[in-house]
Amino acid sequence: MAVNEPLPGTSDLWEPEVSDWLLLENKAREVFPRYGYSELRTPIFERTEVFVRNLGSETDVVQKEMYTFQDRGGRSLTLRPEGTAGVMRAIANRGLDQGEEARVFYFGPMFRGERPAAGRRRQFHQVGVEAVGADSPWMDAECIAMLTHFIEELGIRGGKVMLNTRGLPEDRDAVSAALKEYFLPHVGGLCEDCQRRLDSNVWRMLDCKNPACHEVALEAPKILDLLCDTSRDFFARVCQGLRDLGVDFELAPRLVRGLDYYVHTVFEITHSGLGAQDALAGGGRYRISLPGDKRTLEGIGFAAGMERLLLARESLGLKTEAGAQTDTYLISLGENAILAGLKLAGELRTKKLGGRVKADFSARSMKAQMRTANREGASVVLIQGDDEIAKGVVTCRNMKTSEQATVSLAELAAWLTKHA
Ligand code: HAM
Repeated sequence: MAVNEPLPGTSDLWEPEVSDWLLLENKAREVFPRYGYSELRTPIFERTEVFVRNLGSETDVVQKEMYTFQDRGGRSLTLRPEGTAGVMRAIANRGLDQGEEARVFYFGPMFRGERPAAGRRRQFHQVGVEAVGADSPWMDAECIAMLTHFIEELGIRGGKVMLNTRGLPEDRDAVSAALKEYFLPHVGGLCEDCQRRLDSNVWRMLDCKNPACHEVALEAPKILDLLCDTSRDFFARVCQGLRDLGVDFELAPRLVRGLDYYVHTVFEITHSGLGAQDALAGGGRYRISLPGDKRTLEGIGFAAGMERLLLARESLGLKTEAGAQTDTYLISLGENAILAGLKLAGELRTKKLGGRVKADFSARSMKAQMRTANREGASVVLIQGDDEIAKGVVTCRNMKTSEQATVSLAELAAWLTKHA
């Protein structure tokens, strides 16, 4: 790997890609507040225990993927692998009274030491929301509808909502026992991870990607059939809410999601434009207990992978193409003119004239400066040499029409308004 290349699974972002990122961020800031969510920014590293406690010590993220390091004081810290745990810590720190709700959205970098592949990065970005303190199934329906609204606003068509329930913590033992009983006779033919999961995390055997494991999982008992009435009622309402809101969804009986904090509703949105890593977004209802807070906080939320949203847009031909970098290019010929160019560029910017203004200080030939102006896609070039400065004029060239005029400084604003 060349020394200046970014590390595997990370990337540098340049224009025009940056414009697409801004589009996602701006859409999030436009759509989520309409549902009463406000923006929250949390640190990108936390005490390691914030993640271990909440995501679950048996999850792939905690077992294999976290970037954990010690600070100078010997504390174990971790770069956030996801947003929910940090958001919950922040909410607990601020305090949430009984019956009160917090609805927040966030975006930013997350870090997981996974094997890089298309759509799977080590530094990736999520845009997510969390509604904490809300325990109604209608909230789940609204949250999923909000996600589909956001995705549609980004022009992404063809996303599929996959929906399942994990029921209440009280259901867990019965479901685990039924799954164990089902998988035990098959365990010899399953992957190493699943052989271990039989005792440590049998639910994850349902969604293992290994073909042999998947084949066996297809016939496994359905979680929904094993749940208590309260859990089944909750799920029925979520489904009803989604139908009433006109959100199409598919039941996905083997969807369990990779993090342990989930209860009741779990969902993902998949998109065929993504290839093997086909989850655009994932989320669900969760319960998190925090040190220093006796209560368990319950919430519903999701996170969408920003790289994957952009890949889905690209698969639909919606990627921003490279465009001009400059609108007005100032060519200065000679030392006097360079200083005049520096000042003129400043004035144009203050007066908001000429769009993106760039002055050339290189003292190169007219031809060389013109070549750069062309390469940058400038629509207007302003030329000053000793002659122009003496007369108080500027030679103005419209690069699209090749029209050229000598314009006094007083008339420059009018010329630029017409041509730039
Ligand atoms: P997650 O399913 O682990 O959930 O991640 C959510 C989304 O982040 C995925 O659907 C995917 O689009 C993206 N993603 C995850 N890992 C990578 C990666 N290595 N490279 C690129 N994109 C990736 C969570 O993180 C939960 N915190 C979601 C949530 C919020 N649940 C409740 N509230």
